[in-house]
Amino acid sequence: MILSIKNLSVNYGLIPAIRNLSMEVGQGETVALIGANGAGKTTILRAVSGLIKLASGSVVFDGQDIARLKSHLIVRRGMSHVPERRGIFANLTVYENLLMGAYIRKLLPGDLDEVYSLFPILLERKKQIAGTLSGGEQQMLAISRALLSKPKLMLLDEPSLGLAPQITKSIFSIIQKINKAGTTVLLVEQNAQAALKISHRGYVLEVGEITHTDTSEALLTNDAVRKAYLGDH
Ligand SMILES: Nc1ncnc2c1ncn2[C@@H]1O[C@H](COP(=O)(O)OP(=O)(O)O)[C@@H](O)[C@H]1O
Ligand SMILES: [Mg+2]
Repeated sequence: MILSIKNLSVNYGLIPAIRNLSMEVGQGETVALIGANGAGKTTILRAVSGLIKLASGSVVFDGQDIARLKSHLIVRRGMSHVPERRGIFANLTVYENLLMGAYIRKLLPGDLDEVYSLFPILLERKKQIAGTLSGGEQQMLAISRALLSKPKLMLLDEPSLGLAPQITKSIFSIIQKINKAGTTVLLVEQNAQAALKISHRGYVLEVGEITHTDTSEALLTNDAVRKAYLGDH
């Protein structure tokens, strides 16, 4: 297991958001964490990557307990978080945003070529101000920036948010490609269908607790999951 979360609880003030949650991500896997708006998906990713405090529990990443480590140190250990709404620097160019992604290491000549070959549009738009890109292009930029830190594990928070189905499809196929090239992926999504299609296993989150976990294939055909998350009635 590259990531092992045990008995995680997170509160906002007195209100519990995550209760005693355990989940794991194996080396090389793409794991989907699906659930409705407000279920606690973002909270889990923020807790794992050191952006918010845990009330209790442990988070072991690549053999080390990181539960109380600062987020920039977690990035250095090889975890990279693509936040909800992408977190790009809207006033900087595409190229400047990419340089930010490499801040923990020296950029090697082939590194940018690698992301430009995944997302050729970013090479074309290299000098464009990032805030003027389309939603899909901004998501591509956010993923590219995360890749430039050469992560072992990439956390993706709702990459499909606000994107047309066709754009979602193309971004998800690139996420799959990134995983096949060796990066482990934890993918948080409201779009259960799209996420389960490209993942190996999945967890279903409901108000701060895991209610189902199985292979993605099994979740896609599970009646309760289909009813609640895949638009079957
Ligand atoms: N900064 C915050 N302060 C207080 N409550 C929050 C905060 N962020 C999220 N919450 C609450 O925690 C719950 C989980 O939110 P979140 O993790 O954003 O869910 P999801 O990403 O699944 O939509 C929700 O009830 C939300 O209102
Ligand atoms: Mg969220």
